[in-house]
Amino acid sequence: MTLDLAQLRAAISGYFFGKEIRSYTAISSTQDYAISVAETDPCSHGTVIVSDSQLFGHGRRGRKWISPPGGLWFSVVTKQDMKASSCIFLSYAMSLAVCETISRNFHVEGYIKWPNDILLKTKKVAGILISSAVQGMDLEYCVVGAGINLNSKPKGLKGSTSLIDHTKQSSIGLEPFLASVLILFNHYYDEIMAGNWGLVTNRWKFRCPMMGKRVKVLLNGVQLDGLASDIDSNGSLILITTGGGKVLISDAQDVTIENQIIKQ
Ligand code: BTN
Repeated sequence: MTLDLAQLRAAISGYFFGKEIRSYTAISSTQDYAISVAETDPCSHGTVIVSDSQLFGHGRRGRKWISPPGGLWFSVVTKQDMKASSCIFLSYAMSLAVCETISRNFHVEGYIKWPNDILLKTKKVAGILISSAVQGMDLEYCVVGAGINLNSKPKGLKGSTSLIDHTKQSSIGLEPFLASVLILFNHYYDEIMAGNWGLVTNRWKFRCPMMGKRVKVLLNGVQLDGLASDIDSNGSLILITTGGGKVLISDAQDVTIENQIIKQ
């Protein structure tokens, strides 16, 4: 299942993200390659790196990400004037784009587990990874990567699923899926650049059932109980503890939040 670049280009023509697409049959990691592109090519803003498979795909906290053909593995380079703290909004924009693509086109409701896992029923179908470099308060680049199990799920990983298992289709086309994600990401990116990060987090919160609910949080080894109340202007999760305290939690911290999965 090799990506049909002509079909993809036709579907996203006129949009900024994907103005340049580099497509491979096998690559070590689209994320690592996109980082090297961002670091060496000053004109790489908007470039998309996609590969049929990854030999050394990786996820958050250095975890291995199994990436056989049939799934969608890609990374987008962003390299525009932006505050370093805005990077997290790009990952919210991407998880929202993936989640909305699933819900709009496949009659199955995707939802988000904080910070950026996309789940179908109780299992993970996709994950988002951001890699960035900053200079002072400014973002030099932010690479936003996504891995989506479209046509198969990694063997032996009990907590994962694939989109195809939730549809009646015999296969899911990579091109229309990627085109939809890039168009939605482009839209939310523009909103963030225009200062409307609140629009992105509001839509994101709608897809994240934990928001507005009581949660148990393990933060740096300390157990906290409280209400997942909002996302602040730095993209941090605001937890109002049962004692009334306000704790800000960023995805960079060593944190586990229980009870995020919807039992169905
Ligand atoms: C996670 O849930 O931990 C994030 C997974 C991100 C995987 C994607 S696949 C495309 C890109 N290349 C990588 O090596 N990782 C990301």
